[in-house]
Amino acid sequence: MMSDRMLIRGGKPLSGSVKAQGAKNAALPVMAASLLLKGRRLTLERVPDLQDIHTMANLLRHLGAEIEFSRGRMTIDVPDDLKWETPSDLVRRMRASSLVLGPLVARCGRAILPLPGGCAIGSRPIDFHLKALARMGAEIDLEQGSVHARTDGLSAAKIYFDFPSVGATENILMTAALTPGETTIENAAREPEIVNLACALRAMGASIKGEGTETIEVEGVGDLGAAEVTIIPDRIEASTYLLAGVITRGEVTIDAVIPEHLEALTSKLGKAGAPVDVSRDSVSVKCRGLSWSGVTIKTLPYPGFPTDMQPQIMAALCLAEGTSVIHESVFDSRYMHVGDFKRMGCKIDIQGNTVVITGVSQIAGAEVHASDLRAGAALILLGLAAEGETIVCSLKHVWRGYENLMEKLTSLGADIELLPDTLDEAGLSG
Ligand code: UD1
Repeated sequence: MMSDRMLIRGGKPLSGSVKAQGAKNAALPVMAASLLLKGRRLTLERVPDLQDIHTMANLLRHLGAEIEFSRGRMTIDVPDDLKWETPSDLVRRMRASSLVLGPLVARCGRAILPLPGGCAIGSRPIDFHLKALARMGAEIDLEQGSVHARTDGLSAAKIYFDFPSVGATENILMTAALTPGETTIENAAREPEIVNLACALRAMGASIKGEGTETIEVEGVGDLGAAEVTIIPDRIEASTYLLAGVITRGEVTIDAVIPEHLEALTSKLGKAGAPVDVSRDSVSVKCRGLSWSGVTIKTLPYPGFPTDMQPQIMAALCLAEGTSVIHESVFDSRYMHVGDFKRMGCKIDIQGNTVVITGVSQIAGAEVHASDLRAGAALILLGLAAEGETIVCSLKHVWRGYENLMEKLTSLGADIELLPDTLDEAGLSG
């Protein structure tokens, strides 16, 4: 168990370089795609060692897979017979558990999935996933908080999503790969993680065209084969460390990234006056003595500005010169962190899904609580920039997404330490 509280002595410019981890949000769907195999092995490279990855591994083990995971390499051996009922204790821990639904229905003709949990960022239904599966011939019922899906055989269909949902696109892409005929997904999500999944499915023998665009065409095949897949770099983790360089007025390089995947952030930083140097597979900021100005940001599906970077860019904009505006258009209620930001001296006004930030020149350390994964990362960024000591509590959310966070920040010169859990956090108080 990792400690749940971090002490940060802020105000030190960070400098140096760190290597990006493999992308959590790419690894999770590729792991789920293993369920499409029968008596075969899927091997993944560059898998980050994170809580969510272990949750997905345990879910796949429960369904019958054998998994080995060491130093970023994961092998998943999938038996001929799979279980199709998923346990609520694992599923409720993580929304991405819903990614096993499509593969199970395609492979077993049945699935039971308790409605999944995940970060507390607004209402997050899975109705697009369910409607699309129904269009492909699955019978879907909701019974006592669980989705029951069954079919005597799926068929290819034309699917249109009202919104380019990442998870729904992934679920249907996987389902379609094993469903005979041509399935078309319109208004598909275009995230790099979708492209990584399509490449993985293709390596397994699937026939897919158009990933990375809004129309994906899948020609289903009856059987998929063993494959080896490399997970792409984590653009959200990399962007968070880049902002650690900006917010502390330091010099930070992130290696082993695909700079194109970070463009929504790096172009905004350029506009704010915090320029980014880009090479073939690294990005760096040099912000010593530099101040940056306020900008306007709207979160959007890729290639727009990622909602998963909204709390972290907000942290940096709280210390910008002038006013910034952020409009969150992907999730409702993704401003749970604002209360704690204000405790540290940030000036933020919330109007619905829009916030107006008045930049301040200094913020002060405080005891704050991570309400979700990226909010926690943003509070750590603020703590690194604040005067005095900050204690960030409820770090369990942060461990879901950042591998070797302590080591990476320490190597950049951050003055941080983990504090022993209080009785309550250690779960000893009954
Ligand atoms: C994925 C990411 C998450 C990121 C999000 C948006 C993973 C494991 N998680 O989540 O980190 O914040 O993309 O980039 O990859 N929606 C519906 N009905 C649905 C599905 C989605 O209304 O059936 C809505 C959601 O409530 C949300 C929006 O669509 O408002 C986007 O959600 P979606 O793209 O599906 O996000 P996830 O796949 O859950």
